[in-house]
Amino acid sequence: MADASLRALITGASSGIGEATAKRLAREPGAELILVARREERLRALAESLPCRASWLALDLTDADAPERVRAHVAEGGSGLSLLVNNAGAAWRGSFAESGYANVHRHMQLNFDAVVRLTEALLPLLHKAAPSAIVNVASTAGRVSRARSGAYSASKFALIGWTDSLYAEEKEHGVHVGMVLPGFVLTEGFPATELREKAATRWIVSKPEKVAEAIHQCGPGGRAERYVPRPYGLAAALRILAPSLVRRVLSGGGASSLTTSTADEQDQNQDPG
Ligand SMILES: NC(=O)c1ccc[n+]([C@@H]2O[C@H](COP(=O)([O-])OP(=O)(O)OC[C@H]3O[C@@H](n4cnc5c(N)ncnc54)[C@H](OP(=O)(O)O)[C@@H]3O)[C@@H](O)[C@H]2O)c1
Repeated sequence: MADASLRALITGASSGIGEATAKRLAREPGAELILVARREERLRALAESLPCRASWLALDLTDADAPERVRAHVAEGGSGLSLLVNNAGAAWRGSFAESGYANVHRHMQLNFDAVVRLTEALLPLLHKAAPSAIVNVASTAGRVSRARSGAYSASKFALIGWTDSLYAEEKEHGVHVGMVLPGFVLTEGFPATELREKAATRWIVSKPEKVAEAIHQCGPGGRAERYVPRPYGLAAALRILAPSLVRRVLSGGGASSLTTSTADEQDQNQDPG
């Protein structure tokens, strides 16, 4: 798709990868950004700091009326929508025995259902603006599943399967569907503290700006898929080519060195309500 007059909506723009993506896309010629997340002050401050036109909408994407409210905001502010970045997401670790269906449901509501519902609401605007693009932010955890991350992985596996299908369906309508699969990336929600504390694992933690560049490549740049950092793609390939090896590694004692806690589960531990 052409970069001229890029009108892009980014979910989860109040921190981490979404915020970095807003800063990256703001450099594009004629960019206009719509920033979505729950924390209004963060969105306002970001919008005011960007070197392009930007508006914001503070809401919880899992709310029943969220897709319609976003659609109305987009339609009211201008012509069409040339790029939708479905980035908002979260993880709450826990074994299935401990956290059960409730945790699976919570992940699916935000990381999968909210993406599908928002895309449904905005697809007519993307069709109108074609050539246009959607970028879904999945995860390497949507290819390889680790202990205590089953609910998160399930939501990202679902997102990947749905995204591949959407890519094939929307090609003829001029809507390019790209997908970015980050590995460990240092953000507020995914601080990767355990990995950054050890010299042996520090190097595998990437930066949100690198993911933002990949999002640009998979939207306006027209790429279909990017792992960030790229070598994480090897883990996905090994899962298919050498499943017993991957199972052995991930269910052995060494797997705990790749275990990280997330901000949302830390909040949850502090506030059991
Ligand atoms: N960082 C990593 O290691 C990593 C690895 C693989 C994939 N990812 C994926 O990358 C995406 C971005 O994560 P991040 O690392 O940048 O984490 P982050 O800094 O915690 O950002 C998450 C964003 O999602 C928003 N969000 C969360 N729940 C929401 C809700 N119910 N409604 C609306 N917005 C909501 C948050 O904003 P508010 O709190 O203001 O609502 C925030 O802007 C996620 O989809 C994540 O799964 C991250």
